[in-house]
Amino acid sequence: MPLNERHVTPSILSADFSRLSSHVREIMDEGCRVIHCDVMDGHFVPPITFGPMVVSALRESLPDDAYLDVHLMIESPEKHVAEFAKAGADGITIHFEATPHVDYTLSAIRDAGCKAGLVVCPGTPPDCFAQSEIDLALIMTVNPGWGGQPFLRNQLAKIRRVREMLPDTAIEVDGGVNLETGAECAEAGATWFVAGSAIFKADDPIAAYHEIARAVGAE
Ligand code: DX5
Ligand code: ZN
Repeated sequence: MPLNERHVTPSILSADFSRLSSHVREIMDEGCRVIHCDVMDGHFVPPITFGPMVVSALRESLPDDAYLDVHLMIESPEKHVAEFAKAGADGITIHFEATPHVDYTLSAIRDAGCKAGLVVCPGTPPDCFAQSEIDLALIMTVNPGWGGQPFLRNQLAKIRRVREMLPDTAIEVDGGVNLETGAECAEAGATWFVAGSAIFKADDPIAAYHEIARAVGAE
């Protein structure tokens, strides 16, 4: 899948895990193509979520053209990228802060046949995006670890800066994205929009998906 199209990427973190595949499929049936999977290890961030087994189960239950966007909030991601690639990830995004071996890990992701993404926490400056070859730049617009946090508006300048640095690269934003904040991120140069609670906790997740997609120019 070309990464240069605009996508709303629902985060399964806020989905109903007792019926994960059908909850995700309801949104995919509406034209959504990218699903965001938040892997947390209890070390890089306090919560623990899920690992490659759940990614693999999701892969098997979704159509082939679903793009699984795996966001690794784990220490030493270089030890685990092969497992997530084998589980069916299409893209794997690692935190700049999580390893001294960023460039090596990005290469390992590519060697495993996946798109390589790099993500920074709100307190990390954007310069690191110029140091390695990446397919996607992810800018956290909350501190990583939990869904449902308020959008950090001070990250808009970082989005603008990264757009200047990387005019042709997919820029994803993650955290507190809704109708209004999504539109602000789009105006600043973002092209992929993670939305967890704004979709899966909405009274009508399908309507919420379409509203956000329209607000950010993804449909
Ligand atoms: C937070 C995760 C996000 C999370 C976003 O660390 O990376 O992907 O699901 O949730 P919302 O959209 O509710 O802020
Ligand atoms: Zn995420």
